[in-house]
Amino acid sequence: MGISQDLYKEAKRIIPGGTQLLSKRPEMFLPGLWPAYYSGAKGCLVWDLDKRKYIDTSHMGVGSCILGYADRDVDNAVKSAIDKGTMSTLNCPEEVELAKELCRIHPWARMVRFARTGGEAVAVAVRIARAKTKKDKILFCGYHGWHDWYLAANLKDRRVLKGHLLPGLEPRGVPRGLRKTAIPFEYNDRDRFLSLIKRFKKDIAAVIMEPIRNYYPAKGFLETIREVTKKEGIVLIFDEITSGWRFNVGGAHLKFKVYPDISVFAKGMSNGYPMAAIIGRKDIMEIAQDTFISSTYWTERVGPVAALATIKKLREHNVPAHLAKTGKAVQDGWKELAKRHNLNISVSGIYPLSHFTFNHKKSAVLKTLFTQAMLEKGFLATTVFYAAYAHKQKTIDKYMDALDKAFFFLSRAIKDKKEERLLRGPVCHSGFKRIA
Ligand SMILES: Cc1ncc(COP(=O)(O)O)c(C=O)c1O
Repeated sequence: MGISQDLYKEAKRIIPGGTQLLSKRPEMFLPGLWPAYYSGAKGCLVWDLDKRKYIDTSHMGVGSCILGYADRDVDNAVKSAIDKGTMSTLNCPEEVELAKELCRIHPWARMVRFARTGGEAVAVAVRIARAKTKKDKILFCGYHGWHDWYLAANLKDRRVLKGHLLPGLEPRGVPRGLRKTAIPFEYNDRDRFLSLIKRFKKDIAAVIMEPIRNYYPAKGFLETIREVTKKEGIVLIFDEITSGWRFNVGGAHLKFKVYPDISVFAKGMSNGYPMAAIIGRKDIMEIAQDTFISSTYWTERVGPVAALATIKKLREHNVPAHLAKTGKAVQDGWKELAKRHNLNISVSGIYPLSHFTFNHKKSAVLKTLFTQAMLEKGFLATTVFYAAYAHKQKTIDKYMDALDKAFFFLSRAIKDKKEERLLRGPVCHSGFKRIA
């Protein structure tokens, strides 16, 4: 449908999988109908190639744009960096300023390295932990990117990563020698964690996890992990790529007062500009000099400048409070309108990263139908809502109005047993699938 979908068909012929990120595949939302490409984005508005305008109430650039698209303050800082030159034979001073700022915000950390994407930053943290401990195994919980160390978990059984965000990921191309080096545990499953520690503690380099994502930590869960890793000389890494900067200015761990040995930031820290940081205790981070961690574009200027401007704005406008308020309004709206239209849904997620599921045997059909109905009303919407500073009260009011109509439409579809017939294309994908 339209120029965007035509371009996407072309893309699939020349780009394996069509896009560079699984979560941006149109098939994940509304196969054949999702706009796929944008010509412009500002605040929470997005324009597609056919000049149609949408309000983005989905995941705002896969969680990268906490402030909103093309934020004026961040962009002005970046534009002035561009005018000064973003690359040279010498280093940019802003990276030192950002390192100091990150250590000021996280006083337990003393040293910082930088990268530009989340997955590579986690890979840096894993390398540092392995170098420090001279051990190989990693216990992990949740999603941490595409790199070999992580996908190795699926070498044993490709279902291992199911439940850690992306089911069905194939570890083809990951050296078989990495088998049994990455072992998962579930969030809040203290017993499983402790039994893995008991079994493998002599070989574990690091425990890596998000301090919070979908649920609050059970009482004592993070504290137990901290205590045990400390006792056993295991490096504790908190992946704050998505959780960071949303609860407070800095890592969510500050709120829980549980301090890791290394913490990793990306995405939200720089509002859409590539930037990532690995911060940590001095005695651990120094090991980075005894291994080789180095890349040309980790030295460019835009990333640190964008991060400094983003952090400044997050603080000055108390953005985390706005995200909590907006996320709560959306969660309350989902519950109230589902009740009004007799739809059985479960609402979950922390306020800044909210989501819901349809408790229905045709949940994937309903999810697709929901996206279809909302798109027709001018919204990029799915069953997640990542709050941004650009989502103002009037955005939420408009969203609730559209949601009311979309939920009414869904309840009628269920009542008339017409769920599939009302779909104008195939059902959305839920995890990794090959694209023909
Ligand atoms: C917790 C977490 N870790 C790692 C990553 C990977 O980051 P990137 O996509 O920038 O490589 C993500 C991205 O979704 C994430 O949410």
